[in-house]
Amino acid sequence: MAGRLAEIADSFFTPAVNDLVPYEPGKPVEEVQRELGLDRVVKLASNEGPFGPFPEAREAIERCAPELNRYPDGGAYRLRTALAERFDLRFEEVAPGAGSDGLVDCLSQAMLEAGDEIVCGWPSFPSYAIDARKLGAVPRTVELRDGRYDLDAMLDAVGPRTKIVYICLPNNPTGTTNTRAELDAYFERVPEHVLTVLDQAYFEYIDDPDYPDGVEDLNAGRRVVVLRTFSKIYGLAGLRIGYALAPAAVVTAIGKVRRAFDITTPAQEAALASLDSPDELERRRRTNDEGRPELEAILREHALDPVGPALANFLFAEVGDDSRPFFETLLREGVIVRPTHGFGAPDAVRVTVGTPDDHRFLAEALDRVSTFSK
Ligand SMILES: Cc1ncc(COP(=O)(O)O)c(C=O)c1O
Repeated sequence: MAGRLAEIADSFFTPAVNDLVPYEPGKPVEEVQRELGLDRVVKLASNEGPFGPFPEAREAIERCAPELNRYPDGGAYRLRTALAERFDLRFEEVAPGAGSDGLVDCLSQAMLEAGDEIVCGWPSFPSYAIDARKLGAVPRTVELRDGRYDLDAMLDAVGPRTKIVYICLPNNPTGTTNTRAELDAYFERVPEHVLTVLDQAYFEYIDDPDYPDGVEDLNAGRRVVVLRTFSKIYGLAGLRIGYALAPAAVVTAIGKVRRAFDITTPAQEAALASLDSPDELERRRRTNDEGRPELEAILREHALDPVGPALANFLFAEVGDDSRPFFETLLREGVIVRPTHGFGAPDAVRVTVGTPDDHRFLAEALDRVSTFSK
């Protein structure tokens, strides 16, 4: 029998932590399957790619297994070197991280004190606000306009204590983006005391001439950090590896707060091995380009109206006042989608692009639950 553990009052924790709502992880697929007695469960909930790591990455992971008694290279030297070369930047301008989420955490730790502010759009990726709150800093969230980041309104929300402005390009959960012209106009106006973080977690999926490449802003001498990740198109979400491209002073600051051995050897090796497979990257981009309209058509056939234009590997649709009943109904049919309460949109779900077979399964599930419509 379990013993009786000591009681720990709230006073043990910081006020900022006491005010936070804990992250609610989804249940593992196997657990959902077992609990609900389902033969098959399709997960379209976390914007992971439907494919595993690149073949070269799998081999690299296997190759490092015998030496996992050793700590990883804390400096991720080879990966940083390869990324610097790829983007024609200096080694000192590349910061690896335990996912781009790990880098949002590092930037927050390095830059925010109690009472400081960050600005981001809303609904959007929750870590910007959560990581600020952990430190007693204040998120100023700015409503989207027509489903997109409203950069003018965000500039109006910048105050003397604003340290970071996050621009999620494309935005999670809506999948929408700002254009190059809008971003240029933003940089004309943003005050000098602000560091702008361009979160481009889905960059590799997008092949649109109007879609901004944050590296151009960096090269233009703008005060900017570009976040990218191996979690999405590269299929390495389970390994936790991403990177920031930034002025050297920002990279140094990230290096001071990042835990020394945060980025595991398999993560570093798999990321490195993934960099030289342009054909596989292109194949995945094309598959996603075909899959997204297919998913959109299925949602529309079932009275759901995704926000657009969406550029990444997911779609966002309102389903009523509270999306949980819709989520739970679909779950019982074997499809996991993402209710977006934590992203500031309790009335909507986000659905990740899957394989054609996943989509068929979703369409059949939606046929069965078609009583739910907007
Ligand atoms: C916009 C955005 N940023 C960052 C992340 C975090 O990605 P990771 O930490 O896996 O690199 C995600 C993941 O969903 C995302 O959608």
